[in-house]
Amino acid sequence: MGHLNPPPVRDAGDGLATARLRLRRFMLDDLSLLVELNADERVMRHLGGVQTQEQTRALLDNRILAYYAANPGLGIWATMLRGSGECIGFHMLNNIQGESLIQVGYRLLPRYWGQGYATEMSIALLRYGYTQLVLSSLCAIAEPANDASRHVLLKSGLHERGERSFPHPAYAKVPAFVYFERAAQDWLNEHPGTES
Ligand SMILES: CC(C)(COP(=O)(O)OP(=O)(O)OC[C@H]1O[C@@H](n2cnc3c(N)ncnc32)[C@H](O)[C@@H]1OP(=O)(O)O)[C@@H](O)C(=O)NCCC(=O)NCCS
Repeated sequence: MGHLNPPPVRDAGDGLATARLRLRRFMLDDLSLLVELNADERVMRHLGGVQTQEQTRALLDNRILAYYAANPGLGIWATMLRGSGECIGFHMLNNIQGESLIQVGYRLLPRYWGQGYATEMSIALLRYGYTQLVLSSLCAIAEPANDASRHVLLKSGLHERGERSFPHPAYAKVPAFVYFERAAQDWLNEHPGTES
């Protein structure tokens, strides 16, 4: 049963794993996968709308690949099914753009929705952030109408803390986000085991 509780990793991109999922770093070869994700209206509905191939290439270059070296332990990683190796989208633990706040987030291909995958890896990333990276607080943001994501964040143990807006141009299309946060000690007290 050892596979249910894999050993901790120093960097989530080195294979942070749950019972069903594993993370890996993105590579340049993953562009087509990210283009598919970011061109899907269902995926991007609450994220400012679909993105062109050029916009996704910029995301891959700047916010994903260059970010790994500049911010060890943090990033946006491909989320894989451990059984088949299929990539189902991504999870992230990185700074809200223009801010020092560290957020958890996710973006999954619709054919993989509704199976608990977003929540499962979010819980693992929160535990990793609080324990491996020793971050005292973690947060998340969701557009108010994004009910599924708000539900995932609550299920992951974050608490709603009102609304916030952020001046970075990346958030220009969303006037206000629901802001979620939890202090390390509070979250760890509620999640003492390794349920993910
Ligand atoms: C948000 C998203 C990641 C959810 O992924 P997922 O793997 O289906 O999530 P989970 O299965 O872990 O949990 C979804 C929960 O939301 C619930 N849910 C789904 N749609 C919902 C809706 N429209 N309203 C309320 N709850 C909803 C599900 O029932 C489930 O809760 P339950 O386990 O208590 O039944 C996925 O929809 C997605 O990628 N969306 C597009 C990108 C995005 O919006 N990312 C978040 C940006 S803040």
